[in-house]
Amino acid sequence: MNETGLSGEEIRSFLEASKGQDLKYERVLSSMCTYPHRVAVEAHMGFIESNMGDFGLFKGTYDLEKQVIGSLGQLLHLPNASGYMTTGGTESNIQAIRSMRNLSTPGAWCERPNIVVPDSAHFSFDKVSDILDIELRKASLDANLKVSVKSVEALIDKNTIGLVAIAGSTEFGQVDPIERLSEIALHNDIFLHVDAAFGGFVLPFIDDIHEFDFKLAGVSSIAIDPHKMGLSTIPSGVLLFRDSEQLEGLKADTPYLTVSTQYTLTGTRSGASVAATWAIINYLGKEGYRKTVSGCMELTFYLLQELERIGVYPWIEPVMNVVALKVPEPDLVRSRLAKEFNWQVSITQNPHCLRLVIMPHVTAGMIDSFVRDLNEVLMSLNVPI
Ligand SMILES: Cc1ncc(COP(=O)(O)O)c(C=O)c1O
Repeated sequence: MNETGLSGEEIRSFLEASKGQDLKYERVLSSMCTYPHRVAVEAHMGFIESNMGDFGLFKGTYDLEKQVIGSLGQLLHLPNASGYMTTGGTESNIQAIRSMRNLSTPGAWCERPNIVVPDSAHFSFDKVSDILDIELRKASLDANLKVSVKSVEALIDKNTIGLVAIAGSTEFGQVDPIERLSEIALHNDIFLHVDAAFGGFVLPFIDDIHEFDFKLAGVSSIAIDPHKMGLSTIPSGVLLFRDSEQLEGLKADTPYLTVSTQYTLTGTRSGASVAATWAIINYLGKEGYRKTVSGCMELTFYLLQELERIGVYPWIEPVMNVVALKVPEPDLVRSRLAKEFNWQVSITQNPHCLRLVIMPHVTAGMIDSFVRDLNEVLMSLNVPI
């Protein structure tokens, strides 16, 4: 740290230069985040000092948080859901499993607790396993990249405290057979957490019906991220529980604050993202999200139509705005797209594909130029597609 501070002008110009090195979303086809909506940004800026870690000081913001939980609970068929705003899917997943662990019977019945997750689960579950010392059992996927119900059943034993299902997998945008997993959870009297961090703001707004939420009696908690397809600011995640007892399972005493208990993983927490999320969900409403999602889906199908012209096909028919493409040498293709054309795309592991996410910042013009550039890279590889 310098002895004396820089001037406001120096700070601004330094920050501008740093921001100039950041990639613009206009070249990004790999991210599950996007530009937040201006209504969310405005609300965020208005609440920048608000700390939800000591919400007794910020009663108005806390009330907004309760309204966000109520609105998203209602969207996911449980208006009186319990929960709170997290920093995103990772924290929601950690806390959901921590609550399962805390409410499960300790002792002989649980030598070392385990959870069964799809092989397609986000890497945040590896962190869950490490932090909570819970065994992670990965169930295999079927040909459509949904978790195999048979594989899940085979992995359940007396130490299994819960199952995880994905509603919109990170790599493939696929939705697991959650109706069946709900029945299995009920039958075995264990929890079922649904990771809808991405799909939670997509599935309710598309025409195809996918049962994934609290309508299913076995679903005990859901992660849904406003900072992904919800168009809110970062960090905005939401964790919802069916029963208030599950939230109580996360309780910690906070003797020196204005409130005596906390249920969150972090202490100090952003009231700005609470305000941003409240603002955007109330500004857009279901109608606004339907419009956003249908725009992304139309572009997803436009992309597939253009890719077909150059002989490139998806591994599965996209369920949502995530596409995994069969191309030869995906790693090489990815790095050449980045180096030669400044495109950011990503890679899936198993199967090994080129992955694109068609977020609200993507336009038809971007797709046209991406397909042209991809074709050029593929032609120069000189291998059959
Ligand atoms: C399905 C799913 N769950 C969890 C996460 C983690 O979310 P975050 O990065 O907000 O912690 C992601 C991130 O892309 C995701 O796709």
